[in-house]
Amino acid sequence: MTQPTFADLGLADILVRAAEKAGYETPTPIQADGIPAALSGRDLLGIAQTGTGKTGAFALPMLHRLSLSGTDRLPGKPRALILAPTRELAIQVAQTVNVFARPMNMRYAVIHGGVSQHPQVASLRRGVDVLVATPGRLMDLLEQRVLTLDRVETFVLDEADRMLDLGFVKDIQKIAKLVPETRHTMLFSATMPREIAGLAGSMLRDPQRIEVTPTSTPVERIDQSVLFVEKGRKRALLAHLLKQPELGHTIVFARTKHGVDRIVQHLQKSDIQAAGLHGDKSQGARRVALDSFKSGRLSVLVATDIAARGIDVDGISHVINLDLPNVPETYVHRIGRTARAGRSGAAISFCDFEEVEYLVDIEATTRQDIKIDAEHPFHNAEIATSKVTYRKGGGGRPKSGGQKSGGQNRGGQNRGPQGQGQGGRGRNEGSAANANAGMQKRRRRSGGGGREAA
Ligand SMILES: Nc1ncnc2c1ncn2[C@@H]1O[C@H](COP(=O)(O)OP(=O)(O)OP(=O)(O)O)[C@@H](O)[C@H]1O
Ligand SMILES: [Mg+2]
Repeated sequence: MTQPTFADLGLADILVRAAEKAGYETPTPIQADGIPAALSGRDLLGIAQTGTGKTGAFALPMLHRLSLSGTDRLPGKPRALILAPTRELAIQVAQTVNVFARPMNMRYAVIHGGVSQHPQVASLRRGVDVLVATPGRLMDLLEQRVLTLDRVETFVLDEADRMLDLGFVKDIQKIAKLVPETRHTMLFSATMPREIAGLAGSMLRDPQRIEVTPTSTPVERIDQSVLFVEKGRKRALLAHLLKQPELGHTIVFARTKHGVDRIVQHLQKSDIQAAGLHGDKSQGARRVALDSFKSGRLSVLVATDIAARGIDVDGISHVINLDLPNVPETYVHRIGRTARAGRSGAAISFCDFEEVEYLVDIEATTRQDIKIDAEHPFHNAEIATSKVTYRKGGGGRPKSGGQKSGGQNRGGQNRGPQGQGQGGRGRNEGSAANANAGMQKRRRRSGGGGREAA
């Protein structure tokens, strides 16, 4: 079968040219399948691996359809709405939209928390075609009647499973009610846990599910390995690895904001320059950290899961999980910061006694065994043994200091983005979770909480 070109997909010439100019030569599989479906007006659930061009798969047909619909751009009444879970991702998606929208003379705005609302309000009042937003600031501006959503023709949830998870779902449901029922809706993600898929289905009308690869499949080109190390030696192991010349552009993920700060300090003491990115930092500091990492001025970024989803930084060679996430999908997104757009990359995960069960969960969800790297000076063979015992069904951790399975971090970790609603606006999203038991389980695992990932 010959590969289609962007022109073959039915997109307007101006968009084909804009895509080519952006370096999109041949459509990726999710673009090849998703764009024609979206152009036909079908609601979509698009599942494709990290870094395989989902942004273009929704942005291009969205703009094509907006250009044909012939509706006017009115003040405070966007024609398309894209929601994203973090400020950084909203900004990035808006930049991509802008690349395609500019030649069509379409206007966009991006609204998110952590900065003054005045410029955002001013751009909305001037009139925009496409609005990219994080839910928290959008809700604020809706409550202030700065904008209405009654003329939204296309509604997109990027990182859809995250947007329908407990930290956001109530706001998303409220926002969706304000968008006309006749809207065209598109949901995209690399993961879609079963307990969220039902909720996703309820947002869509007669949807087409386009699944390029099974959900939660990490990109094959990521060389994944796990290093067994005691908790107290992880930072020393990290410094040891980062001194190896083959580690280039590296993003390090840690569970907590405090953990991120401590790692950055430790690295600096070891003469390794690194910046931290988490929800307690000012928006200015967040931007500087990400920009210096993107530009290559800084080769190590240490982040909470705030940076796990969607963020597209050219040339990240390594992802290091200093802590393993307790939600397997988070692992898939974290490691997907490398090996994007056809490149290769490596993901190195540290695993202590207490994380063995997370590792087993991750391997089950991704349907892959992660290679064990014992060739480092901090290797702990007992942890390796405890994994074998755990997999055999014992469920226990012989050397975990007496803790039972389901130990200390189940309820509280991974709050990175979820628990960082700003200015005390975080909410407990409990009632929305009562829909099913799976959601309840996820709540315990992901923490629930904040309405905007700060
Ligand atoms: N058709 C294409 N040809 C070449 N490069 C592309 C193409 N489509 C997208 N890209 C590039 O691939 C990279 C990843 O795209 P994108 O961020 O849309 O991936 P994604 O599927 O949304 O990933 P994630 O699941 O992490 O959000 C970007 O740098 C983008 O510019
Ligand atoms: Mg994306």
